[in-house]
Amino acid sequence: MLYIGIDLGTSAVKLLLMDKEGNIHNIVSKEYPLYFPHPGWSEQNPDDWFEQVMEGLKELIKDVDKLEIAGISFGGQMHGLVILDENDEVIRPAILWNDGRTTEECDYLNNVIGKDKLSEYTGNISFTGFTAPKILWVKKNEPDNYKRIAKIMLPKDYIAYKLSGVFCTDVSDASGMLLFDVKNRCWSEEMCEICGVNSNQLAKVYESYEAVGTLLPEMAEKLGLSDKCIIASGAGDNAAAAIGTGTVGEGACNISLGTSGTIFISASKFGVDDNNALHSFCHADGSYHLMGCMLSAASCNKWWLEDIMGTDAYEKEQADITKLGENKVFFLPYLMGERSPHNNPQARGTFIGMSMDTSRSDMTQAVLEGVGFALRDSLEVANKLGITVKKTKICGGGAKSALWRKMIANILNLEVEVLESEQGPGLGAAMLAMVACGEYSSVEEAVDAIVKVKSVEYPDKSLVAKYDERYNVFREIYPACVHVFSML
Ligand code: XUL
Repeated sequence: MLYIGIDLGTSAVKLLLMDKEGNIHNIVSKEYPLYFPHPGWSEQNPDDWFEQVMEGLKELIKDVDKLEIAGISFGGQMHGLVILDENDEVIRPAILWNDGRTTEECDYLNNVIGKDKLSEYTGNISFTGFTAPKILWVKKNEPDNYKRIAKIMLPKDYIAYKLSGVFCTDVSDASGMLLFDVKNRCWSEEMCEICGVNSNQLAKVYESYEAVGTLLPEMAEKLGLSDKCIIASGAGDNAAAAIGTGTVGEGACNISLGTSGTIFISASKFGVDDNNALHSFCHADGSYHLMGCMLSAASCNKWWLEDIMGTDAYEKEQADITKLGENKVFFLPYLMGERSPHNNPQARGTFIGMSMDTSRSDMTQAVLEGVGFALRDSLEVANKLGITVKKTKICGGGAKSALWRKMIANILNLEVEVLESEQGPGLGAAMLAMVACGEYSSVEEAVDAIVKVKSVEYPDKSLVAKYDERYNVFREIYPACVHVFSML
């Protein structure tokens, strides 16, 4: 039998077709626009997602026996607010995970309701990209839209709803809404009351590897698939990527270098750090995880090379970078503000340390290293909690660069395991579909059978020491700039 994983990303949807052994039969990617209607806002059209998912599915399965396809599941960009009216019409464009408009609402939640209460009810505090403050924003700024809300859903759940007709979500993605009691894996009545949300506006919650239903007959017909094809709830993209990279079990770690950058640490028990600097969410295998999320990671490199330097020759631009750990130029990668650990939507990208002999490649190096240092900021928080991480998996577009992987290994002093496939979320989603269809009895069993490490980038002692010294400089730059950011 064959399984489909749909990774609903920010720049594109990536679809992957895989068999039980983990052989990938086809991969298709379809882009859609991202809108920035005001500085700091970030929106997408849910119907653009669905259109491209349907186009992508048709292309993905065009050369296979369609009746072989047993299940479909998802990994989706997290936190986005999708609102539907009673006729299931999308009320307004989705407000995405990297949208920074809800500063006032976050201040209200964190300071008037109070971080302690939020953390008690949900395991997390409010960040501008989270879903609950966006609902408060719509209430205040678009009262007519607010009154029409019949269903509140997350991006991938909109696709599941269109395909199966089931209003569902999963524990890992629901964790990022700030309406969910992560510890007890259910909606938080207190948070729903605080945010004026009725339980009938929220989806039924499933574990990520559970079947929610089957393809609607009209969808099956459009795609030429069986209407017995199972739809599994899936996971937020980071939890799905963790499954696809085999990041399960206590202390297992995955770094994702996509539009966002995340460091994901799996944990058997629920836990939070003192300042809630890391997100505490449910994992897609039935356990929990801690996660640091940077709002701009591989997107910093893309911005720097494509938008500023006017080139897409990534490899060529990295070819001259040889002096690792010696760069005098630093870059703060906060192009969309920053989530972990600073929680500051006003933070901005910053170059510092240039002199007359600074070269183009020093600047490129600083961008790559800046992302690595910012990931280390989150790892330091986890270390302070007593969590020791020695090795990590890596995935996402940025993971294709051997140089970047080497920097990450040495800046974070971690063994970096490179996998046979870097298709983290799509692969994980297909694996969740397999478990939902009974192909494997658990997520761990699917991981053991499918995920294979290809090579390991080991940290080098002398480079680790040089990068430690560089990191000590990096960590001083944000506090020195924070006041200026608030003036910009
Ligand atoms: C995680 C987060 C991002 C998005 C990107 O909290 O906001 O990683 O999920 O798709």
